[in-house]
Amino acid sequence: MFPSCIRAFFLGVIFLSTLGHCSELRVRVRLADGQVAEEVLEADGEKDAITLEFKQGDGALITFVADFKQDVKVFRALILGELERGQSQYQALCFVSRLNHNEIIPSESMARLRQKNPHAIRLAEERRGLDQLNMNMAVNLSRSGQLSSHIHNMCSEAQEAIYTRETDVKYWLERGVEGSLFEILPQSVDVAPARAPALAPCRSTKDLWQPCFCSYSLRLEWYPCLLKYCRNRDTTGKGSPYKCGIKSCSKGYHFTYYVAQKQLCLWDEETET
Ligand SMILES: *[C@@H]1O[C@H](CO)[C@@H](O)[C@H](O)[C@H]1NC(C)=O
Repeated sequence: MFPSCIRAFFLGVIFLSTLGHCSELRVRVRLADGQVAEEVLEADGEKDAITLEFKQGDGALITFVADFKQDVKVFRALILGELERGQSQYQALCFVSRLNHNEIIPSESMARLRQKNPHAIRLAEERRGLDQLNMNMAVNLSRSGQLSSHIHNMCSEAQEAIYTRETDVKYWLERGVEGSLFEILPQSVDVAPARAPALAPCRSTKDLWQPCFCSYSLRLEWYPCLLKYCRNRDTTGKGSPYKCGIKSCSKGYHFTYYVAQKQLCLWDEETET
């Protein structure tokens, strides 16, 4: 074994050279609230996509899909509702954004990862910062197939709550995606034209039926973000590099988006108390 390969072993996830189409990896991670969650990572070689799913301590189910075919990433949060406050059993939120290169390892590499020590609680090697995403546009579910086939599968329960960013929309429009897919939502206070009614964050909105700006944060605690390469040393001291492991990362996302009623954003007030 070569030193960097041994490191991959210590991580508990080993990189196999055999081919695989679909594979599932279960990784135990510690969440920010101290609870341990089991993350399920799935690679689908045919669809060229990776899915990551876990349940938060508050019961919310978080699903993340990286669609490499379309370079689109989708976050879905299924948040438990507060029945005593007239909410439905759970609330679905979907956030769609551009998938950048090198955000996560390719699906075919992901499909070759195998778990070495499934009971270990893993900590990501690199803790990346919090991305602030201003989700100021809505995506039409019935037309979303143009953007990514995963949106329809994941977000049908979110319906009116599929959000994306203006900067991503500009990029997609340039690449031929139809404008009718998107709808401009009311803008926040600092960017609204002077005559538009000022909208406040839900945190400072008292009336449950008033529109406001909601925020939702989540963190992917562990995912393979980079491939590690080892070099097979031959007698000349040179050798061709080969994939021998992964680097794990953790990354946070903070979404801000419009809601028609504060009622749909009750967690935002709780953060203040
Ligand atoms: C979404 O697109 C469908 C099909 O084109 C259309 O009938 C519907 O009105 C659109 N929904 C919204 C909210 O614009």
